[in-house]
Amino acid sequence: MMKTRTLAFAVLAITASAAPGLAAQVEIPRSPGLPYAAKSLPDRIVLTPGADPSREMAVAFRTDTAQTTAEAEIAPAIDGPSLAARAVRVVGAASPIENENGKALYHQVRFTGLEPGRGYVYRVKGSAGWSEWLQFRTAHAEARPFRFLYFGDTQNNILSIASRVIRQAFHATAAPALVVHAGDLVAQRDDLAHDDEWGEWTQAGGYNYSIVPQLPATGNHEYADTLLPDGSEGRVLGPHWPRQFALPANGADAAKATTYFVDYQGVRFIILDGTAALDLGALEGQTRWLDSTLAASPARWNVVLFHQPIFTCARPNDTAVLKAAWKPVFEARKVDLVLQGHDHCYSRLTAEGGKTASAKARADGKVQGPVYLVSVTGSKMYGLNDRAGTQPDRVAEDTELFQVVDVAEDKLQFRTFTATGGLYDGFDLIRHADGNRLVEITEAAGPVRRCAGQAGPDGLPCTADPKD
Ligand SMILES: [Fe+2]
Repeated sequence: MMKTRTLAFAVLAITASAAPGLAAQVEIPRSPGLPYAAKSLPDRIVLTPGADPSREMAVAFRTDTAQTTAEAEIAPAIDGPSLAARAVRVVGAASPIENENGKALYHQVRFTGLEPGRGYVYRVKGSAGWSEWLQFRTAHAEARPFRFLYFGDTQNNILSIASRVIRQAFHATAAPALVVHAGDLVAQRDDLAHDDEWGEWTQAGGYNYSIVPQLPATGNHEYADTLLPDGSEGRVLGPHWPRQFALPANGADAAKATTYFVDYQGVRFIILDGTAALDLGALEGQTRWLDSTLAASPARWNVVLFHQPIFTCARPNDTAVLKAAWKPVFEARKVDLVLQGHDHCYSRLTAEGGKTASAKARADGKVQGPVYLVSVTGSKMYGLNDRAGTQPDRVAEDTELFQVVDVAEDKLQFRTFTATGGLYDGFDLIRHADGNRLVEITEAAGPVRRCAGQAGPDGLPCTADPKD
């Protein structure tokens, strides 16, 4: 649904998303020290997988305007230091961007024809020289156990508060092969400097995002508000998204820039765009694509990632449009995990009828359908809704979290950790011939974190606001 309020654009300088003729009016707070102008060495280096990450990876990065060509070098990883000796130069495409941090170029380079299951090093070029060599591994061509990280919304106070959760996840977790982001990586609203936010987002993940492939989904906040010719407010994908992420471009025609799928060692990851579905007329097209992409999946496990949750834990109502269109497809095509964000709370939901019915079904040996997760990584918190006490198996409020998922041939192990690294929730999905069985963890998870009136679970005022 389009909102119709009149926009008060608050830009210090030109932003690439701003409608022409809208002048600077309001002073926007900037990151301390103004560190995010493009420089003569590359920054914001983010690795993304090809559709077949055993054969293809891609990188996006940013430089000042002096480096006009998108250039990288790639070589097989070796144990000695002569990394450049076998390097091959690869050229990609550069795209200009102009905003409160001045003019810059985003570059994208694709590494194709790679060998499965082997290490590579790459570096990217700025006018003053090369980045450091960055090392990654391609996926194996066949199903093999691996581990991935799942982050909810980072969105607010990305560097000051969300970054420690991301860094805790990388430090506490050995060798994650992938990272999935469930949307609202940034806030991108009128009162924020958007390019600073993207600077904070890449700084929060740092070099981890250059060496581990990232699978981002768009949230509503990746879409900037814009003024339509009739004076109403519309949504347009912010200028950073297509430049910062060199995605596989194999998604639904209805949302080509923001939907895609990746097959990684026996898992098909399908990334949808809830905002395009809800607000931009791209629901039916995505639903058809989702169904056909699941129908054609050769994978043992299927994981779907998008922003607006089918079952909400904060909002008064579920996301009815997506629930009506996508839930039947998830069930019919036997999706294993549905990973979401948007509600700024935690929820693990295994049955629409509620946790008591779900536990009984488990005890009776019933097959487990799709498991629906909502999580949050950043600082913004919403209060739990009236269903949170009875519908999901496990919830949290006023709590920053990250998730670690271990995939094996017949077992998918899902673990949720708090920002300080405490185990908060977890389950195993065990594959049987007739479907999954869900097994609760036996390890001790921490007590449920909820606010009690004005009191938060850390003995401080609750920060989780009710969500209308
Ligand atoms: Fe959000």
